[in-house]
Amino acid sequence: MSFNTKYPSVEDLRSRAKKRIPKFAFEYLDGGCNEDVNLYKNTAEIREVELLPQYLSKHTASSMKTTLFGHEYDAPFGMAPVGLQGLMWPNAPEILAKAASTHNVPFILSTVTTSSIERIGELTEGKAWFQLYHPAKNELRDDILLRCEKAGYDTLVILCDVPTFGFRPRDIRNGLAMPPTMSIKNILQILGKPNWALQTLKHGQPNFETLKPYMPKNLDLKQLGKFMDDTFSGRLNEEKIKPIRDMWKGKLVLKGVANELDAERAINLGLDGIIVSNHGGRQLDAGESTIKPLSRIAKKYGDQIEVMMDSGIRSGPDIARSLASGAKFTFMGRSFMYGVAALGNKGGDHTISLLKTQLQQVMEQICCEKVEDFKNHLID
Ligand SMILES: Cc1cc2nc3c(=O)[nH]c(=O)nc-3n(C[C@H](O)[C@H](O)[C@H](O)COP(=O)(O)O)c2cc1C
Repeated sequence: MSFNTKYPSVEDLRSRAKKRIPKFAFEYLDGGCNEDVNLYKNTAEIREVELLPQYLSKHTASSMKTTLFGHEYDAPFGMAPVGLQGLMWPNAPEILAKAASTHNVPFILSTVTTSSIERIGELTEGKAWFQLYHPAKNELRDDILLRCEKAGYDTLVILCDVPTFGFRPRDIRNGLAMPPTMSIKNILQILGKPNWALQTLKHGQPNFETLKPYMPKNLDLKQLGKFMDDTFSGRLNEEKIKPIRDMWKGKLVLKGVANELDAERAINLGLDGIIVSNHGGRQLDAGESTIKPLSRIAKKYGDQIEVMMDSGIRSGPDIARSLASGAKFTFMGRSFMYGVAALGNKGGDHTISLLKTQLQQVMEQICCEKVEDFKNHLID
């Protein structure tokens, strides 16, 4: 096996991550919003999708290779953008980006994570994608896009499902909401996780590296909250997307699409792809799980735009379920972060290897030779 056999599932990684990192960091990663209904539905409802094996069909080897936006990836999954990754494990974005690049799968860098456009561009030789939180000022937007272009990024992801911050009771209790606070309780939690604390000391306090050039120096946590609030206006609309489409020469992807209406708008705006996503159940607790709109959107628009999906995927069978339901490609947020929080430097490689092994097993089991053939194995 090309992964650590002590952790053969994402749930094993999650359990280890929970033991290794401070409670406030784990809860930030693990939680949904409000009562966690949407978070639960994401993982529960995708598991209702059933696949049809065709045991007696002629079958040679299965291949996971997938061509997307003109690039052949080694597997039909990648790493979704996650903010504040260095809070959950020091150097997490670098560890994951490197692993993704080695395995030839995409890593999406979040605007608000703890590594910079330039550093990740270099580590992945320009193969990473960038996710833009929409800046309030056009000059900032233009500057960030220019930096992406210079660093060799081809694919830009814009986000439509954060018009407001999600209501996340754990983060509010832990002081991680906006504006953030650092309480005695959090400091005690850090002291209880010496390995995390040591690694964090070694690598230094995590910062918003991409945003550093625009931030006044030495902000306290309250001022930081205000800076973030003033700098970004998460609410996206067609007027904000049009100039980005005009400016960005590479592929443009809209993330956070949850229904046919927004999918149709994306097509009309000339976008290249959509990620059907509900932000891992962190924004609208009363929303649908992603597998439901995915099936509808893929059926209706799959031949007009690249339809991808995230939210709720935790295993090879889940990736297969999503592909069989019409996704061209899939992404995961938490699964990879559990991996890196559980296994540090080895976490990215382990999690990718694990998911590849699981997905390969499903393909061989149902006699599916190519990723495009998954749709012939859906029990509708
Ligand atoms: C801790 C955390 C932080 C996130 N931060 C971002 C972000 O900065 N930008 C973004 O587009 N999505 C963000 N997301 C959403 C992910 O990109 C992705 O949509 C989600 O994690 C998918 O669900 P999953 O965790 O069930 O795989 C975040 C998710 C988590 C769990």
